[in-house]
Amino acid sequence: MISPARSEFHRRIQDQYEAYPFPWFDVIEAEDPEGRLTTSWNLDLGLPPEAWLPERPRVWVAGASTRAAVQLALQHRGARVIASDLSRESIALQSRIAEQLGLDNIEFRHEDLTRAGYRGEFDFVSCIGVIMILESPEAGLAALRAAAAKGGVVEIMLYGTIIRADAMRSQEILRTIDPDCGARERMALALRLFSSVREGRLGRTHPLVAMGRELAGARPEQLNNLADVVTHPYERAYDVYEVCEMMRRAELHIRSWKNPLLWQPERYLRSEKLAPKLAALGDVDRRQLAYLLGAPLHELFVEDAARPRRFVPVEEQPVEELVARPLATYLEHRFEGDQLVRTRRRPRLVRHPRGYKVSGGERRPGVSAYWQWRILPPVTARVLELADGRRTVGEIERKVAREEKLARREREALRQLLRQLLVPHSRLLAVHPRGA
Ligand SMILES: C[S@@+](CC[C@H](N)C(=O)[O-])C[C@H]1O[C@@H](n2cnc3c(N)ncnc32)[C@H](O)[C@@H]1O
Repeated sequence: MISPARSEFHRRIQDQYEAYPFPWFDVIEAEDPEGRLTTSWNLDLGLPPEAWLPERPRVWVAGASTRAAVQLALQHRGARVIASDLSRESIALQSRIAEQLGLDNIEFRHEDLTRAGYRGEFDFVSCIGVIMILESPEAGLAALRAAAAKGGVVEIMLYGTIIRADAMRSQEILRTIDPDCGARERMALALRLFSSVREGRLGRTHPLVAMGRELAGARPEQLNNLADVVTHPYERAYDVYEVCEMMRRAELHIRSWKNPLLWQPERYLRSEKLAPKLAALGDVDRRQLAYLLGAPLHELFVEDAARPRRFVPVEEQPVEELVARPLATYLEHRFEGDQLVRTRRRPRLVRHPRGYKVSGGERRPGVSAYWQWRILPPVTARVLELADGRRTVGEIERKVAREEKLARREREALRQLLRQLLVPHSRLLAVHPRGA
């Protein structure tokens, strides 16, 4: 339970999320209808085989809010999940969602993550969009680090300064006018204030004018999501250098940044002439540049800096011996308010002139950018047919190579394709140890 001696800061944050649980959603996707992605997860995390997560991982979702623990538990039915949040409303909402989806592997706790006191208990800790709204981000990071078991991985998402600039500006405007009002009063103030911004003076495209329009046209449930942007009591944001420094101070080692493609500056520039200059930059400078150009969210996997494990990319993982199963469809659970109204199976692949298109979808909490489409070659369909839950990745590779009479270079392309099909963005195969 929350200590009665909590600070004014905590009270305000709690008030905000009691009044406006966030995020408000109408769909939850289950990438794997069977909910058995734990072996695949090891590939996402780049863990060396000797440190792979157990089949029944212990998971802590710190600041779980309305759906984050459900999203993880749906993918990992064997996981034992603790979901903590300061907002009773959010926790209550999420437990109703979990119940309707038949999830019995989540325990919801109303608690302050910085005081929860977990010690070495979790194989995986997820803390998305929370650290920067804590009174002490340092205390938050220390709590996450302490909670991770030996070899445990921590997932963190922090806001970037660029993407949150308009949000922080409106929050500051509201604070300047009335620093003491509660969450609902602040929303009433925002509605009044932003609708009175003079479009004629500022111009139609001015961010504050746009905010006024958005607020005025919002349905009641959309206000929950706008509240997290426009009327949040207090948040921070960071650039890449600040994130790295924060992790260093917290004695957390950055294993990897999610969505590697988004962190390549070349992605945002066309000039070939610049390529050597970009390539000559150090890793952190390249990331900072990609951040300045594309402003991706800071989404990281970190671990205790005292015991870092090597990062093993999927290309180097021993996947040949793993049995593969197709993920050609996903489940879309549709909600109206807190009521599950429909569950549908949806295809992942769409035909395309060069083969198929696949969308990463909303596969993990907080990773909206996986929505980008990828083009996959026609042979993908044959791979999915062969992945019958009995053949291994190696067997599928050899069979397709024989059937298609592939030359050495084409065989290498097939090998790479198969590995691409094992990780987010274009994951179409789930893997398991033989006999599991
Ligand atoms: C932006 S939402 C998080 C969203 C969620 N992690 C997700 O990915 O959907 C922030 C959440 O953190 C919670 N929170 C803020 N401070 C907290 C604290 N000290 N302990 C636990 N939860 C906290 C809030 O109540 C709110 O539900």
